[in-house]
Amino acid sequence: QTIYLSEYRVPAYLVDNVDLRFELFEDGARVHSTLAIRRNPESDAGAAPLELDGDSLVLESVALNGEVLADDAFEDRGDRLIVNSVPEQFKLSVVTWIEPQNNTRLEGLYKSSGMFCTQCEAEGFRCITFFPDRPDVMARFRTRVEADKTAYPVLLSNGNPVESGDLDNDRHFVTWEDPFPKPCYLFALVAGDLVEKRDTFTTCSGRDIDLRMYVEPRNADKCAHAMDSLKRSMRWDEDVYGREYDLDIFMIVAVDDFNMGAMENKGLNIFNSSCVLASKETATDVAFQRIEAIVAHEYFHNWSGNRVTCRDWFQLSLKEGFTVLRDAQFSADMGSDTVKRIEDATLMRTAQFAEDAGPMSHPVRPSSYIEISNFYTLTIYEKGAEVVRMIRTLLGEDLFRKGSDLYFERHDGQAVTTDDFVKAMEDASGRDLSQFRLWYEQAGTPVLDVADEFDAERGVYRLTVRQSIPDTPGQTDKQPQHTPFALGLLDEHGKALPLRLSANEQDAPVERVLELTDESHVFEFHGLAQKPTPSLLRHFSAPVRVHYPWTREQLLFLMSHDPDGFNRWDAGQRLAVDVIQSLVGEPKDTPLDSRLVTAYRHLVTDSSLDQALVAKMLQLPSEAYLIELAREADVPAIHAARERVLKHLAIALRDDLVACYRRNASGEDYAVTPEQVARRSLRNTALAWLLVINDEEGRELALRQYREADNMTDRMGALRALVNSDYESDREQVLDDFYQRFQTDPQVVEQWLSVQASSPVAGQLPKVRALLEHEAFDWRNPNKVRSVIGAFAGQNLPGFHAVDGSGYDFLAEQVCRLDDINPQIAARLVTPLTRWKKFAPAYRSQMKSALEQVRDKSGLSKDVYEVVHKSLAD
Ligand code: ARG
Ligand code: ZN
Repeated sequence: QTIYLSEYRVPAYLVDNVDLRFELFEDGARVHSTLAIRRNPESDAGAAPLELDGDSLVLESVALNGEVLADDAFEDRGDRLIVNSVPEQFKLSVVTWIEPQNNTRLEGLYKSSGMFCTQCEAEGFRCITFFPDRPDVMARFRTRVEADKTAYPVLLSNGNPVESGDLDNDRHFVTWEDPFPKPCYLFALVAGDLVEKRDTFTTCSGRDIDLRMYVEPRNADKCAHAMDSLKRSMRWDEDVYGREYDLDIFMIVAVDDFNMGAMENKGLNIFNSSCVLASKETATDVAFQRIEAIVAHEYFHNWSGNRVTCRDWFQLSLKEGFTVLRDAQFSADMGSDTVKRIEDATLMRTAQFAEDAGPMSHPVRPSSYIEISNFYTLTIYEKGAEVVRMIRTLLGEDLFRKGSDLYFERHDGQAVTTDDFVKAMEDASGRDLSQFRLWYEQAGTPVLDVADEFDAERGVYRLTVRQSIPDTPGQTDKQPQHTPFALGLLDEHGKALPLRLSANEQDAPVERVLELTDESHVFEFHGLAQKPTPSLLRHFSAPVRVHYPWTREQLLFLMSHDPDGFNRWDAGQRLAVDVIQSLVGEPKDTPLDSRLVTAYRHLVTDSSLDQALVAKMLQLPSEAYLIELAREADVPAIHAARERVLKHLAIALRDDLVACYRRNASGEDYAVTPEQVARRSLRNTALAWLLVINDEEGRELALRQYREADNMTDRMGALRALVNSDYESDREQVLDDFYQRFQTDPQVVEQWLSVQASSPVAGQLPKVRALLEHEAFDWRNPNKVRSVIGAFAGQNLPGFHAVDGSGYDFLAEQVCRLDDINPQIAARLVTPLTRWKKFAPAYRSQMKSALEQVRDKSGLSKDVYEVVHKSLAD
């Protein structure tokens, strides 16, 4: 059933203290919970029955103020424990029995590679014990963990250890106390045989914080990067946001089985192994950067999420949007601002825009949901971050900081709403953000239609901008949103022109952020001798689509002249999109615009250009992006057109690519610096392009690079290039070699699975089915499932969209199978099918019938039910 924001009521009862005792055994766990509860003075529910949430619990006993309750004094409804009459203030003790070893949903307490761990966000705590499982109930937790001493020497929970000792039967215990009241979704427990890595951090006020990482012994040498990232994050949050860490200990644990990337449990962050463990031999540059960003993200949640948390799950973006913006700023500061912006804009335009145009489209602050796990989306996270970024752009950095200071100070220790966040920004800045709030309420990607004309006589350049927002499920007739629109104007030499909004304006800036509030605006720029070239929506200043009738001349010009790096990249993408689109469905001998080759040759040969930017500019728009831009996508045709452009460029630039490859070799020690990352990326792109055209020298370079690589970026670059080539026996040989080398390392085996499943060449359906039978595959491990099934449906687009519909049936079959094991993962994996309306008729109908197959499965989970029914609704 559907939950509505409009039905929010304050909790009838509050919990001040939680006292937990876990007895962990091999065949289950007994959880003793004592809650100090009182009526909420702000509730009008009066002496209503006490209702606690539960899920998959075996109730053993209930006691009120120490008196065991008779069976008729409470009601165990499975998903709810109701105690009919309770005093104003009391202690409730509940004992439950759970089976972590059989928990394949990975929500609540479960086992992963022999260790116990938890995931409670959003509603996993109710799988541990009966509790008011909602974020606006905040309590102090005291947690005693008891387990076998040999199998589980390390026992962790939130806060500080206050007591420990031995018990009978070779068991032991540790008691933890968290002084900060928190919602139960931030509770965590870990028990296992783990090695500890320690470090320290001295905060700005001079407090020494104990930093500890806990990993399985075989991963002991993969912790340094995460630890360094953590220290950089702690310093950065002090410097940029004035946020100091609050507890004496900060712990990070790596677990192999995890539904998401990581979790910000108070003082005890738990990570998916693939998002925290790295060594140069086993992790690529991209993985190193991702780890740094995720470690930062979880750490930043300590303030944006934990100290100030969400009132209810409709407010999820309050913590996620803001925290993603914070981690993006951090990554930009650690590396290249422009490159980070390009990556974020690419993700938005490729995946979030698609989500926003699909059946699950929802506002940054949704107003209803069936299963909250389905709302950990690109819209909540990435668009949510863009919305906060726009506030920062509108206010300027200083007022934004004033606003965030006010927000943290005003709401410390509270559970609040996105509206409270905006209010703090308004109060600190004096700006009116009432219209801006529509960004939180209206779904859909706004479209800006831009037209221009030049009045030569008056020297006036006139820009007309119209805003429209498409209808989305349940929302029509939307109001224009308050939108920052950054732009510049260039003369014919590429010089930035002053943007004079009136004829006599002095010292006009060369870049402005215009503010759009109405459906249509006309801006006039004065004092111009010629019609300028506009550089629009610089830095992707708002998450919108811009339509403007660019000519290829203009795009080529911007690609090499725009002083704004982001828009140089953007012009290159638009040009490549235009060329590829013009070839879709056209005969194979349709000539290709020769100016594209000239532009790309310039990128490959001119080493005076910013090489990090060049590495990005050389990436052709992805198939996923081209599909998103298409009206009725024909995937094989799009794939063929893109391949044609790729091969054409590779043939024309063949010698330049070899030179680029050699120029970017380097003998220096591996480090994840922007320069080295750019070099490796350029080199691997050159290699990939050479193999696309079956170049013999390219093949030799790839084989040598594969053999001699001292880091995973180069080894994987060579492997990927060979896997996607027509050199079949080389491909099989390096794939075998790679598996032999790394089969004991799950994080590397994941990469091995996904490089095959995502390849249109190596990832034919029978091959993908064979991977599911491989000894390395494990249905209960989400990473493995994502590496094969997710990679196939999400990245191997020609394979997934095979004309006979076999890819769709395959996905439907696997989703049904997974639904019984792990509904959260099943609901994620089904996403590619939900976009059926986007595709040409022949594909569409087959996708729809695959979805219907899933819909008709018996005992469908709430998670998959919501996604499938919403995508089949009309
Ligand atoms: N709060 C976590 C993060 O963004 C994600 C937790 C997601 N959990 C879930 N069940 N969907 O860092
Ligand atoms: Zn988060």
